[in-house]
Amino acid sequence: MATPHINAEKGDFAPAVLMPGDPKRAERMAEMLMPDAKIVSDVRGIKAFTGTVDGKPLSIMASGMGQPTLGIYVTELFTEFDVQRVIRVGTCGGLSEKVKIGDVVIANGAHYEGIINTHLIPETHFSAVASHNLVQAAYDAAEGAENVVVAPVISRDRFYNVPPEVNEAAARVGTAGAEMEAGALYGLAALHGKEALAVLTVSDHMTVKSEDMTAEERETNFQGALKLAVAAALS
Ligand code: HPA
Repeated sequence: MATPHINAEKGDFAPAVLMPGDPKRAERMAEMLMPDAKIVSDVRGIKAFTGTVDGKPLSIMASGMGQPTLGIYVTELFTEFDVQRVIRVGTCGGLSEKVKIGDVVIANGAHYEGIINTHLIPETHFSAVASHNLVQAAYDAAEGAENVVVAPVISRDRFYNVPPEVNEAAARVGTAGAEMEAGALYGLAALHGKEALAVLTVSDHMTVKSEDMTAEERETNFQGALKLAVAAALS
């Protein structure tokens, strides 16, 4: 049955969903990966695609920006459409000096702002962690590539007006990058007994001055991250 934000039927989604933030990117990924893709939902212009990659079913749907928006789609996918795993494929702002623009972060955990996970265990700080088997599958697919790191990120509810000392503190404890979705994704996977991972390209750097990527570098790096995400999704 359709939900408030997904006008598909049960069975329209594959067990594995790749989830970029940007709906246009979802469309390009579907064109690139799945010549047989069909549109299964289009509420609010957020199209969802289902097809096959190497004979295995896969769906692709954007999360939009931010934990609350991702939380709506992921909750409906997990509870109403039998989705078993969601792999976010997106970008993050670099925080740790150990990562540089163009690196790919396999986010094994996410520190987070916001209320989405805070009620999961009363009186206790919840650990938002990725599914180990998906981390392993993505890492194996990287085949030792030196620009791929496994590290935690920080998931925020704000893009602007972050005090610099917050970034410095996060970097000091080894946080690879800042983004806005993984924390809620990991918490919701835990809540519903499902699997989740985020694979993130470092698109800019917040603590180290560096050159922006060219359009070509951006595309090459994205393809690298996508390869890891697809490998995890189909593992
Ligand atoms: N914050 C800062 N920089 C970023 C982000 C973010 O959430 N996403 C991509 N670059």
